[in-house]
Amino acid sequence: MKNSGFKFNPIMLALAVAIAATGCSDDDDNNDAPSPGNGETSSYRARATQMVEQMSVSEKLDVVSGPGSDQPINLTHDVSGAAGYINGVVNDNLNIPAVKLADGPAGLRINPTREGDSNTYYATAWPIGSVLASTWDKQLVEQVGEGQGNEGLEYGIDILLAPGMNIQRNPLNGRNFEYYSEDPILSGKMGTAMVNGMQSQGVAATIKHFVANVSETDRYYVDDIVEPRAMREIYLRGFQLAITNAHPLSLMTSFNKVNGTYVNERYDMLRSILRDEWGYEGLVMSDWYAGNIFAMNPLVPADPDAAVKQQMAGNNLLQPGNAKESLQQAYDAGTLTDDALDQNVIDILTQVQQTPTYRGYEYTNQPDLDSHAALARQVAAEGTILLKNTDTTLPITSGASLATFGVNQVNLYKGGTGSGDVNSAYAVNLLDGLSQQYQLNAELVDYYQRYFEENQYEEEVFFNTIIKCDDPMVSDNSDLMALVEDAAQHNDAAVISFGRQAGEADDRDSGRGDYLLSDSELDMVQQVSQAFHAQGKKVIVVLNVNGVIDTSEWATDVDAILLPYMGGQESGNAVADVLSGEVNPSGKLAQTMPLSYDDVPSSSTFEGLDTDSDGVIDETHMNEGIYVGYRYYTSFDVDVAYPFGYGLSYTTFDYGQPTIVENTLSTD
Ligand code: GLC
Repeated sequence: MKNSGFKFNPIMLALAVAIAATGCSDDDDNNDAPSPGNGETSSYRARATQMVEQMSVSEKLDVVSGPGSDQPINLTHDVSGAAGYINGVVNDNLNIPAVKLADGPAGLRINPTREGDSNTYYATAWPIGSVLASTWDKQLVEQVGEGQGNEGLEYGIDILLAPGMNIQRNPLNGRNFEYYSEDPILSGKMGTAMVNGMQSQGVAATIKHFVANVSETDRYYVDDIVEPRAMREIYLRGFQLAITNAHPLSLMTSFNKVNGTYVNERYDMLRSILRDEWGYEGLVMSDWYAGNIFAMNPLVPADPDAAVKQQMAGNNLLQPGNAKESLQQAYDAGTLTDDALDQNVIDILTQVQQTPTYRGYEYTNQPDLDSHAALARQVAAEGTILLKNTDTTLPITSGASLATFGVNQVNLYKGGTGSGDVNSAYAVNLLDGLSQQYQLNAELVDYYQRYFEENQYEEEVFFNTIIKCDDPMVSDNSDLMALVEDAAQHNDAAVISFGRQAGEADDRDSGRGDYLLSDSELDMVQQVSQAFHAQGKKVIVVLNVNGVIDTSEWATDVDAILLPYMGGQESGNAVADVLSGEVNPSGKLAQTMPLSYDDVPSSSTFEGLDTDSDGVIDETHMNEGIYVGYRYYTSFDVDVAYPFGYGLSYTTFDYGQPTIVENTLSTD
């Protein structure tokens, strides 16, 4: 049955955007906590200018191009699993240490163990960006930034490659989990809070991926065709807010082109807008192997001039590096000028001086993981969105007996894949979380645990191996049908959970098993709902997903829908906290859930066109312009399943009839 859809309530939208504009608190931007990158860099820049005068061309080229696969120059302490480095400089006048970079938006990604070392180096797997944004709480997100900053600091990392701030233009972007919202203001506010939090700990934050990196298919080559107004108001705006209000020490340019030119080769973006117009003081680094500098796809030959184009455009730092030879040739040929090279070195060394390694900070390898775990659980619960709660199905009193359905209960997706993955010491799945608060149907738990063990399979994706398992059909499985019937008679309620995984370098698809439920998932919903409703009992669905999925096909079959997305290592506990009423759900959607994927304004242009039929996507035409997300649905009065800003709580609200108490407007 189709969900009838949501009539747009302009008051709700205005309220949501107003909250975004002011945050959930009464502070305003000018009161944002100061950060080490508080915009005051003149003394560092003056010192960097002196330094560059004491460096040879070769030393300058070492600084602007990372070491890549070579040993970093003047690396004092390495961190196993660091994503990259900035080379140091050692000569008669200078002793600048190499500094270390590490991912990612949902937590620090470094190797958790080291050969010959009995210690462990686990980090906290925080809730994903979409969950943070769903809290609409700048102070809370700033605390997450402090936690991530503390872990970077105490594990010896200088520059965190986070937050990710790209706009969720289309639900199928594989990396939406790393980003905040469809709305640039909310994205900018969340990015600001994260940067302030991180940099308050003395490490640098890197806002990324500048700009309009909003699909993953052939990301090294795709050219976003964007009109100027949409570029300004949708894709640039969030970055502008973060730069103005949090002064990130670092920014990472994106893989893609914009209107025919790689972003990391665009002087208008990297010098005119970023620095001249916005006053950005930080360094600008490329994404890894970005700009067709190496032939990442044999169908697309590398551009021998890519490195020098990036340098001349103001992309200060080429990561992960291996470009020194190309730059030396350009310098010798005069296409890489002294002015541009010196400016890039100064931009980099101005920030390097503010890093813990440069300041000689002696890190402990003992970040406060216990308090971070508690905070991660709190944020995961607060960012959980209650989409449906018919007849106050929820909360379910702790101690009740629950029947849990779906392999996702034992196959948690704590976060997405790729460089945004986190090596945490543990992750609490839904089964473990619920078993702390409820009596679970042991036969069902046993069935799904065995089914998962016998039917799981691995899928190799960029950087990761995903463990997957498709849910069994229920209706043609007599054993499972018997368990469903028995549970409906003996348990108080049913909890069905679905999982969706995605990540870097790959986009999702709009078909069954991804954006749409699979046949077996739909079958499970129908069979379980039929059995439990026949007994007058309720059915709850929990969505452990990386982004928006379809709800229209099945929402009317169930009584409650909870959207925790990917809650990090404390996912299961956070869901149990919300289901039991320990935590009153207050999450609000930071992205629209449409009635149908075809209603998404970019559904006809997403992932783009292979214009020369060579098997590589070349262009994405952002024909919808500024009409991204709610800007489209509200402007063209298109019904949605659940609107931007929507989320229920266990508290009920009602609008009374407004009355006028004063008939005169005072002028003072
Ligand atoms: C990746 C990602 C970027 C990440 C970097 C280092 O390609 O696009 O977000 O920070 O490489 O891992």
